Amino acid sequence: MKNIISTHQFKKNEVKKILARAGAMEENVKKGKVKQILKDKIIACVFFEPSTRTRFSFETAALKLGAKIISAENAMENTSAHKGETIEDTTKILCSYADLVIIRHPKSFSLEAAAKVATVPLINAGDGTNQHPTQGFLDLYTIKKEHKRLMNLNIGFGGDLLNSRTLKSLVPLLRLYTGNKFYFISPKELRLPREFIKELKENEVQFEELKSLEEALPNLDVLYMTRVQKERFANITDYNKVKDLFILKKKHLKNMKKDAIIMHPLPKINEIEKEVDEDPRATYFHQAQNGVYVRMALLCYALGL
Ligand code: NCD
Repeated sequence: MKNIISTHQFKKNEVKKILARAGAMEENVKKGKVKQILKDKIIACVFFEPSTRTRFSFETAALKLGAKIISAENAMENTSAHKGETIEDTTKILCSYADLVIIRHPKSFSLEAAAKVATVPLINAGDGTNQHPTQGFLDLYTIKKEHKRLMNLNIGFGGDLLNSRTLKSLVPLLRLYTGNKFYFISPKELRLPREFIKELKENEVQFEELKSLEEALPNLDVLYMTRVQKERFANITDYNKVKDLFILKKKHLKNMKKDAIIMHPLPKINEIEKEVDEDPRATYFHQAQNGVYVRMALLCYALGL
């Protein structure tokens, strides 16, 4: 039994195997030949925060592999969390019903707490501003698919880096490969936590922190845009101050490499101008679709199948 709580837990050989498995899943889905290896399994999908892609792609992945699903959306209202039950107690109960439990929760590190009491594999579908490991894997898979390599890449992250759990999940995976350099592009208010930066420095990771998108664009092989995370702000005034600072516009695209890719975990609000969607470098809708194949592989990994 393996939990998937953070991308920090993975060694390179495991990552490689998961990517290969996801590739095989994609082929099988496209050939219409998916084996029903989870046909005796019940999977619980419990989301204490809103989700479109993560929940639906997990459920699609589970259904394609033949599993059955029990689920709660809006779980803060619709489960006993509403009555004050702890995440630990809820997890214990879910584990006594299902063969695998997937949880998204607004509180950072709540999945670590849940993992302490879990008796079946537990998957973190996003915990506050901390981690979203399965998104990290689908992002890595997307980069590999588009660039045919995971090393010697210049990867820029733009927008709300402070609150982005997807960045914090992808960077540890990309660090397993040599020659990658990170460009962290954000206004000062939304820059990465200093402890995150300190750890990068201590480990001699190649990176730069920049304040302007224009300055970084010509170097990048991957531009990973993020949404300003309104729900993480203490007040609306602070949000309003920064919400329109980083917008990728059509006019910027001429400064990007021909084979660069533009990624975004989605949902996007206004940080990418609509016209950018038509550019062949815009990868975000394919990226979201890759979530199904990658989550199929990760469900099997967690269940040891
Ligand atoms: C992201 C998340 O929930 O962290 N979305 C996703 O899972 N695809 C990013 C976001 O909400 O901005």
